[in-house]
Amino acid sequence: MRNIIEELTTSPIRKIANSAIDNKDVIPLWFGETDIITPSFISDSMKLALDNGHTFYTTNHGVPELVETLSQYSSNLHKKNITHDRIMITAAGMNALMMSAEALINPNDKVICITPVWPNFMRCIEIMGGKIIEIPLILSEISNTWSLNMDDIKNNIANVKGIYINSPNNPTGWMMDTKEQLEILEICRKNNVWIIADEVYERVVYDRKVAPSFLDIADENDLLLVINSFSKSWAMTGWRLGWMTIPRNTLALFEKLNEFNIASPAAPVQHAGITAIKEGEDFIKEMINKLSYSRNIAIKYLSSFSKVTLPEPTAAFYTFFKVDGVSNSEEFCMNTLLKTNVGLAPGTSFGQGGKNWVRICYAKSPELLEEAFNKLKPILD
Ligand SMILES: Cc1ncc(COP(=O)(O)O)c(C=O)c1O
Repeated sequence: MRNIIEELTTSPIRKIANSAIDNKDVIPLWFGETDIITPSFISDSMKLALDNGHTFYTTNHGVPELVETLSQYSSNLHKKNITHDRIMITAAGMNALMMSAEALINPNDKVICITPVWPNFMRCIEIMGGKIIEIPLILSEISNTWSLNMDDIKNNIANVKGIYINSPNNPTGWMMDTKEQLEILEICRKNNVWIIADEVYERVVYDRKVAPSFLDIADENDLLLVINSFSKSWAMTGWRLGWMTIPRNTLALFEKLNEFNIASPAAPVQHAGITAIKEGEDFIKEMINKLSYSRNIAIKYLSSFSKVTLPEPTAAFYTFFKVDGVSNSEEFCMNTLLKTNVGLAPGTSFGQGGKNWVRICYAKSPELLEEAFNKLKPILD
């Protein structure tokens, strides 16, 4: 085995969750998914695709109607013409991230990762033999909000191959604004640095239709890969379908990579994706209403607990908070699980500096959340 693979760290969330994953008494707030089953109009469309004989290999680019549908959807959403040759179908966000790493990273290439962040792209960098430069978000004590450390980014940008930014962010709920995106784009253009923009939560926003995206401001030749997924917005985590938006004239390369990774997501799943995009807007609205309600519950409880510092989560479906007196978040989450049967995710999963932080995924029913917070109260208050 390659040493790099043996040395890869597995997620601390998994370590804790594995100890109790089959325990029905545990309230699982540790993983990043809603408890909503994929709506039946999407599932029915997959059944129909099977009945209609869509059981064969697809092209490496993806089912043409799905590519075309995403090209139109994305063009409308970002008020830019995003042509079909810039859309690459992938097996969800994870596969898009791995292909991005395969496409860009040579051994010892450095990549800036803005943390805290869902760690999987960092592991992709390591698999390719690249090196991570973590640049943590800054938490303003005055406004209690997160922002980019532009000075640190500028100081490191000349030495790196790319910068990975996930906004709306897992775990913090931070959402980058257009001004920050313009600044990053300008710095990266000057230094010939790739932007890997993980925008899988772009529709999980509460005060607008879609989060600010690098696609709003970049042009088709910028060194930009935008990662997207059906997992979160259409409640399709188990389906493994996503897409990436790539620069002009790079499609052939990604088609090659796709062939040697998975040779395309399952054909019937891609057909269901067409339906999700064409008919899914009402579902997204309904889901955001539910999430917004759950978000208010999470904020209400957490901001009332005396040991908790909670920066305002503006988007996605997580709260990331600091707990007074905790110095080992893994131990804290394990003990909390044993004492309360509530499953939390330790902050150490999301980069350095998470030792006294905890993440909760609040994409659960109000009843379950109320129960969880009442169980957590004696520990956090
Ligand atoms: C920031 C971020 N990017 C990408 C993904 C990948 O999700 P999927 O592979 O299901 O699209 C996740 C999943 O939790 C995530 O939080």
